Amino acid sequence: MSASTPATLTPILTANWGDERPWTLAAYQRGGGYAALRKAVGMEPADILAAVKASEIRGRGGAGFPTGMKWSFMAPPDGGPRYLVVNADESEPGTCKDIPLMMANPHVLIEGVVISSMAIGCEHAFVYLRGEVVHVYRRLLRAVEEARAAGLVGGDVLGSGRAVEVTIHAGAGAYICGEETALLDSLEGRRGQPRLKPPFPGAAGLYSRPTSVNNVESIASVPGIVLHGPEWFKSMGVPANPDQRVQGSTGFGIFSLSGHVANPGQFEAPLGITLRELIDLAGGMRSGHRLKFWTPGGSSTPIFTDAHLDVPLDFDSVAKAGSMLGTRALQIFDETVSVVRAVTRWTDFYAHESCGKCTPCREGTYWLKQILERLEAGEGQQGDIEKLDDICAYILGRSFCPLGDGATSCVTSAIQYFRDEFEAGMHTPAAELFPHAASVVFDAKEAVTA
Ligand SMILES: Cc1cc2nc3c(=O)[nH]c(=O)nc-3n(C[C@H](O)[C@H](O)[C@H](O)COP(=O)(O)O)c2cc1C
Ligand code: SF4
Repeated sequence: MSASTPATLTPILTANWGDERPWTLAAYQRGGGYAALRKAVGMEPADILAAVKASEIRGRGGAGFPTGMKWSFMAPPDGGPRYLVVNADESEPGTCKDIPLMMANPHVLIEGVVISSMAIGCEHAFVYLRGEVVHVYRRLLRAVEEARAAGLVGGDVLGSGRAVEVTIHAGAGAYICGEETALLDSLEGRRGQPRLKPPFPGAAGLYSRPTSVNNVESIASVPGIVLHGPEWFKSMGVPANPDQRVQGSTGFGIFSLSGHVANPGQFEAPLGITLRELIDLAGGMRSGHRLKFWTPGGSSTPIFTDAHLDVPLDFDSVAKAGSMLGTRALQIFDETVSVVRAVTRWTDFYAHESCGKCTPCREGTYWLKQILERLEAGEGQQGDIEKLDDICAYILGRSFCPLGDGATSCVTSAIQYFRDEFEAGMHTPAAELFPHAASVVFDAKEAVTA
């Protein structure tokens, strides 16, 4: 498959989702599950790490930091504990990949956790899960129980003499607890707020010990890399091109399409696929409508329009086009949706989820929300658009953590592409220009009574 024409899907983590009870150990093993762990117990930890590094996989949690490099940056072993913490908080609006993955295929994550722990010298790994998803929590608990009973997790993994314990921890449900250092504070039993960096978790993380925090999908990709080799992984996606300062985006990823497409859902494809191809795979836009705007990586990434349909969805190309690949949360909006309304809803979320630790984000998101609400109501005041841009400029780059920066993305990009809709907010309510009923995709009453 060429990097520039990845028109087909590559079901790997999602391959067994349609099987009979795919979440059970028996079903996972029937499909070849835990073969990678059997191979890994015969490998030196340094060789596992080298394979992950050679695959050039970049973290799937949003920032795209190379996973192998993150592991190799951890402080060297000193005889004390070292930790792997899997970030399963998944709270970014639009992001819906880790939770369905853990629900349908929890053992691929557990297998990845055990192999990754061996690579970094960790004997006790944690999965920090968003607490509201109780069904996923139960499923993970059961998967660990099954794996432990089969000798795949515990004091002597597959008789290798190596120990890897796994604890599944349910958080209380806060977007900021997805930020890796806030997550560590929360896991230690404190209020989840970001820590000052440095020290980075690799030097002093959980309980001040060397820690690697990795996304669910990053860790779930490790068994495939170990079993099939880094070249297999690199045969998908976009290779690095040092001459053009392109870091590359190797491998595959789960793209979540939601909103106004005919068949929303998760599509696992090589990085570098385009939205045009993904919309085709999703059966097109909903009948009779056309694409207006979309988020490439969730609500904290600048929005794109129909002019960006052919941007390859890899880290470098999306950045070059002015946004971020983020978590591949593709929220698709057609021409019936008011941009002002969508941005107001997202901003409401950020104002609510701001942890309050720093002033630009705590105060700024509050003021953005006030101004956006009056623009949505058609009661905007002269200078409001400039004020929105001004507040965003005060938040961006001055916030303590990326939540603040992310909160400005939708506002500034929406003004950039759809300024006329914000200007209309000086006199006409968004609901009049874009009646809500036209953009509703399902009848809530029907859903309740069905
Ligand atoms: C507000 C905020 C929320 C985040 N939420 C998540 C999340 O739910 N899951 C995740 O993996 N990373 C999240 N991140 C990114 C993490 O801080 C971290 O970069 C990531 O877990 C590293 O994993 P990776 O290297 O495998 O991508 C969030 C970051 C911020 C600033
Ligand atoms: S940017 Fe927002 S979420 Fe991050 S520390 Fe500051 S107040 Fe908290």
